[in-house]
Amino acid sequence: MNVLLIGSGGREHALAWALSASPLLDKLYAAPGNPGVARHAECVALAVTDHAAVIGFCREKGIGLVVIGPEVPLVAGIADDLAAAGIKVFGPSKAAAQLEGSKGYTKDLCAELSIPTAAYGRFKDGAAAKAYLAGQPVPIVIKADGLAAGKGVVIATTRAEAEAAVDACFAGAFGEAGAEVVIEEFLEGEEASFFALVDGKHALALATAQDHKRVGDGDTGPNTGGMGAYSPAPVVTPAITEQVMREIIHPTVRGMASRGTPFKGILYAGLMLTKTGPKLIEYNVRFGDPECQVLMLRLKSDLLPAILATCDGVVGNFDLRWHDDVALTVVMAAKGYPGTPEKGTEIRGLDQAAQVEGVEIFHAGTRLEGGRLLADGGRVLNVTARGRDVAEAQRRVYEAIARIDWSGGFCRSDIGWRAIQREPSR
Ligand code: AMP
Ligand code: GLY
Repeated sequence: MNVLLIGSGGREHALAWALSASPLLDKLYAAPGNPGVARHAECVALAVTDHAAVIGFCREKGIGLVVIGPEVPLVAGIADDLAAAGIKVFGPSKAAAQLEGSKGYTKDLCAELSIPTAAYGRFKDGAAAKAYLAGQPVPIVIKADGLAAGKGVVIATTRAEAEAAVDACFAGAFGEAGAEVVIEEFLEGEEASFFALVDGKHALALATAQDHKRVGDGDTGPNTGGMGAYSPAPVVTPAITEQVMREIIHPTVRGMASRGTPFKGILYAGLMLTKTGPKLIEYNVRFGDPECQVLMLRLKSDLLPAILATCDGVVGNFDLRWHDDVALTVVMAAKGYPGTPEKGTEIRGLDQAAQVEGVEIFHAGTRLEGGRLLADGGRVLNVTARGRDVAEAQRRVYEAIARIDWSGGFCRSDIGWRAIQREPSR
């Protein structure tokens, strides 16, 4: 089977790496891909926003499956257009992608189905939002309703800060995404990323994972797309997995089906593990980045049949096997991230770094120019390793990073710290 993978980040490099190991794969194409993806796929310069062009490409190349990495094309309805053209696609419809595309949509779904989540209000103007704020305790969370690349969330510690966040949103700080505002109760606890393959009716939980959202060591500083991740997440016990499936994932799958907008693809629940149990922070309708990188490193089963089972509605009869090893990834970002990253700095030493036992390096934001590898984004590399435990995987990753010669980059030095604290010392 020929497969087209859409996207250009570290998540897509990890997906390309996993897909290319499948005996079912004939040829993998990626649009647009990146220099890392290019080791496993033919990268093509397709305008992904032009759905007719993507459909034309699929017909010309005999593509049997399109795998969509990021959320933006899904929210724009690429899965609907591909499906209408008779092309199999991994990823939800535009209607089901509202689970990520509109935070208010998801909150209303949770309210309707009694899914545990933070108390909230939805607002279309500043006066109503501020009237609601006046009756709420701080800290409190202000969110732009739509897609804002992870930047549309403010955790306000004073009411003045909360009001300023509301004003900024309605003043257009996040464009269209901020035309509506969601105000949420602040949840306390530890966060975890929870993934399930969903085929419209059935859901299959993947291995557990956690990421580090803050830019600085000790989980300090501004939020990012994720500075590192590991799998499994020791805090997500089998009992919690069962509870999340029962109280959050299954009701969502049933609710979406009964609304006539069944969800098909990968459902990613951002969870807060509170004293009173796991609560949904938000849904995403795609793999997490960088969580996907550690999941792919631990996946023993062939990814391609799992994706096909999801597309074909038979994930209920499916099972996945995982390596017992732990996987950990550290994001190397360009200086300036999560603000404006410095572009075009040269990266050397990746071949020596990749020789460290158990290490796999995924490209997230790189480009090749005259044989030189250059940084070309905020998050640039995902240095990933397996190990017997988190401590070993972490040691391998940082040993590899020490071999990378890139003065324009930085990374956190403590990825996995919570999990290491929980590990019995060897
Ligand atoms: P989101 O984009 O909704 O995932 O929010 C980004 C980050 O903000 C989350 O990963 C949490 O760290 C934090 N956050 C969002 N909502 C809440 C909440 N209700 N309580 C506490 N933290 C939150
Ligand atoms: N790692 C967080 C995300 O993918 O949204």
